[in-house]
Amino acid sequence: MADIDGIKETKNYFTDVPASHDGFHLKGAHQLDWGMRNRLSKIFRPSTGRTVMLAIDHGYFLGPTTGLERIDLTIVPLLQYADALMCTRGILRSSIPSTFANGVVMRSSGGPSTLKELSNELVAVDIDDALRMNVSAMAVQVYIGGEFETQSVKNMTTLVDMGLRYGVPTMGVTAVGKELTRDARYLGLATRICAELGAQVVKTYYCAEGFERVTAGCPVPIVMAGGKKLPELDALTMAYNAVSQGAAGVDMGRNIFQSDAPAAMIQAVGKVVHELMPPSRAFDFYKTVKREQELAAAKK
Ligand code: R5P
Repeated sequence: MADIDGIKETKNYFTDVPASHDGFHLKGAHQLDWGMRNRLSKIFRPSTGRTVMLAIDHGYFLGPTTGLERIDLTIVPLLQYADALMCTRGILRSSIPSTFANGVVMRSSGGPSTLKELSNELVAVDIDDALRMNVSAMAVQVYIGGEFETQSVKNMTTLVDMGLRYGVPTMGVTAVGKELTRDARYLGLATRICAELGAQVVKTYYCAEGFERVTAGCPVPIVMAGGKKLPELDALTMAYNAVSQGAAGVDMGRNIFQSDAPAAMIQAVGKVVHELMPPSRAFDFYKTVKREQELAAAKK
């Protein structure tokens, strides 16, 4: 028989405190299911609503690009500074320690290499495998204006449907071909289409004019892609401008792993994203950490 002796009768229902309505830390996500919000919270820090996502998925169409030749040596040491990692399932299984406890955004589309028409992608991962690897989101390239625009949108909606069945968010990645202009009009169009068709997160490039209109017009969080390698101060300035203009963080690759000091750079990006540290101060921080690392290496 269950022990019911000594059960306390005094209870406190805090009747004077209204129940929390759970204002979630991400826009457009407050009506999603628990599992999906829990996964989003592994990507976006609840304390700031932003993320430093490290993008290392380039190999899915580029092969061993500069900085990603040896993930085990160059990327694994950076994981401690990343809120989330964006990578393929091949790299996740082969090279990322399963002790990594932050968010994983899995590249879930693919097909063509740089030798072919890049927009001709298909869905490249089954939801079963996404769940097996406990990923926090699936990422899919969307080529608005590209040759295979409709096919890439269909890839996204397929993943959105699969993800909604199991509480896995989908991140639409707006791909910009050489022939397309990265202006606010185009990025606003592409990001809004991703959100309208169900993506819970959208990744896009920064544009100097009107980026605040791009983020405002997208009802779900936008993360900024880094793009080609820039001088560190320029990359930090771009990240600062993006988050100041409404981005929920960055999903940055080359500007971190191709930096002269990747560990210093990702920490400096973290200062900008989570503390809104002005770029000049973040650059000083970068130089200080870089110097400390050089001195520590010299002592070995
Ligand atoms: C590109 O298609 C990949 O999705 C990359 O993750 C993306 O371009 C971000 O990396 P980066 O900052 O190097 O542009």
